[in-house]
Amino acid sequence: AEGYVLTIAPEAICIHANRPAGIFYGAQTLLQLVPPTPTREPIAIRAATIRDVPRFEWRGMMLDVARHFFKVADVKPLIDNLARYKINRLHLHLSDDQGWRIEIKSWERLAKHGGSTEVGGGAGGYYSQAEYSELVAYAAQQYITIIPEIDVPGHTNAALASYAELNADETARDLYTGTEVGFSSLSIHQAITYKFLDDVIGELAALTPAPYIHIGGDEARSTAHDAYLYLIERVQEIVRAHGKRMIGWEEIAQAKLLPTSIAQHWCADFAAQAIRQGARVIVSPSTRAYLDMKYDAATKLGLDWAGLIDVEKAYMWEPTAEVQGATDENVLGVEAPLWTETIETLDDIEYMTFPRIIGIAEIGWSPQVNRSWDEYRQRLAAHGARLKAFDVNFFAAPQVPWE
Ligand code: ACM
Repeated sequence: AEGYVLTIAPEAICIHANRPAGIFYGAQTLLQLVPPTPTREPIAIRAATIRDVPRFEWRGMMLDVARHFFKVADVKPLIDNLARYKINRLHLHLSDDQGWRIEIKSWERLAKHGGSTEVGGGAGGYYSQAEYSELVAYAAQQYITIIPEIDVPGHTNAALASYAELNADETARDLYTGTEVGFSSLSIHQAITYKFLDDVIGELAALTPAPYIHIGGDEARSTAHDAYLYLIERVQEIVRAHGKRMIGWEEIAQAKLLPTSIAQHWCADFAAQAIRQGARVIVSPSTRAYLDMKYDAATKLGLDWAGLIDVEKAYMWEPTAEVQGATDENVLGVEAPLWTETIETLDDIEYMTFPRIIGIAEIGWSPQVNRSWDEYRQRLAAHGARLKAFDVNFFAAPQVPWE
């Protein structure tokens, strides 16, 4: 579906593909072979035939728009730069304790009140449904699928602040602008919780062409274990009833999963339980793929709870080695999340994302054989001028001999 053959011969350059996405990826490869800025000088390109198919169908990035909100105008240039590296999924973390970022017409206060602040107490914001659809369409033009996430049953303070009736004690919570997690939970045994979930997931499903809804499910530290399992299985059924497949952070694999559901590995070994149940996994190890981890001790932005992740560490790993029982068949692919407790601007996003996402993109696309940091860092060096030409505020890692 995404493969192509690029033929560069004296008489012509041709791209052949089975599907439009393949033509697009062949074009991205060709564009990497010419200078990044327009020139009137003749360009020499070495003759070659490149036959290329991706190893994994899921090559993603996640952007947390809940801790800090990022407008459509900030997300579009990110999409442009991800597409150049054949990233094909952008997972938007649309709700958390600090903010609800998507308009839900049947529960208006979620965005209007729950979206009215962010970490640090700034103004926050949210996507109207029209803006969300605009992003979906913009991304689709560059073969990027938007995956929406509403995080439940923990990470729900913004919803609990918006509607008193979602709380067991019928008392609305205060808005929250801190960064600690694990204190909020939907009320598991109230009927209204499932009306809320059905309405929200229904509206989100109608707005989302992708066959997936991400329901979070991580760090539900204020939900009793049995109640957690009960909720996840009910949410899975709601997602299925709206014609979608459920994705959740790997904790969901403690519940009974449908084989169509997908668990996203990040820091534990629950994803192995998903595989044993016949479900597939997305691999996002926090020690390798978390873009909010600092590069080194001097990095001003970001966190370090999963360690420092320099460009080499973000590149030199193998997805099937991260989860017990993982194979190329049950691993859907890789994704690099950017949590935004400390990230406030597009410049911040770019600094933490580039160049590490380029290595993640290669792990997602290319075979693992003969991978070497020394070879990669020479190739990566040539991308410094490209990133500059595209005005990307990347981290010029000292280990890379930038051209
Ligand atoms: C996560 O980092 N809580 C998925």
